Amino acid sequence: MTQYSKRMVIIHWLTLAALIVAWFLGDALDEARHAGDATLVAYVLHAIVGDTVFLLTLLRMYFRHKDGTPAPIGTGLMDKVATGVHHLLYTVLILLPISGAMTILTSDVGRALMAGDASMLPKKFSGVIAHNVHEILVSVLILTVVVHVIGAIKHQFVLKDGLLSRMSLRKKD
Ligand code: HEM
Ligand code: HEM
Repeated sequence: MTQYSKRMVIIHWLTLAALIVAWFLGDALDEARHAGDATLVAYVLHAIVGDTVFLLTLLRMYFRHKDGTPAPIGTGLMDKVATGVHHLLYTVLILLPISGAMTILTSDVGRALMAGDASMLPKKFSGVIAHNVHEILVSVLILTVVVHVIGAIKHQFVLKDGLLSRMSLRKKD
């Protein structure tokens, strides 16, 4: 095995797309709340896309277990760092949606959704620990993805070892 399975590859890139949309919607929601015009639909949309990331990650971990992974491309310290980065990414992909759901459940957003009344939406999340955790995890995710992408670029353009083709649907020749 020299490449990830097709379904692992598809989920890897679908997750990237879903994360971009979730991040954009979350940021827009934050701005709208500060401007006082956040809507219930916007919260539901953000939650749906975020939960999609969660489900994709669970599916991906199942496929990883079933299909296996190609052997590590190297054995040096940087390869151990890369594996650590992958584990951190999986951890954040699971905890970030959970903290988002907890934000809704432990704040007035949950009550506003249950009542179907946008005027009950909170202006601030003071004392909502899950919201602080959600914000911190968003920053951790962005930082970790940046490190991950720098690693991928280094392999592709400096080491020129064809690492990207391991996460591609095109068959290696
Ligand atoms: C894994 C994908 C997710 C990403 C990348 C993401 C990203 C973000 C970002 C960038 C913000 C704005 C910063 C902030 O106020 O904290 C935010 C806020 C929020 N997210 Fe998420 N989120 C995700 C999943 C979820 C899920 C699954 C839920 C709920 C089920 C959720 C609920 C919330 C709530 C309630 C807020 C507060 C919005 C506000 O400021 O009024 N998030 N998210
Ligand atoms: C432009 C953006 C990205 C590029 C170029 C990229 C590239 C790659 C490549 C080439 C691999 C295979 C590494 C190997 O064979 O050792 C990989 C694996 C991985 N990527 Fe990405 N990636 C990107 C974005 C993301 C994002 C946004 C996430 C999730 C937040 C992510 C999570 C992962 C994980 C968890 C693995 C390990 C797969 C496993 O062994 O189970 N990647 N990525």
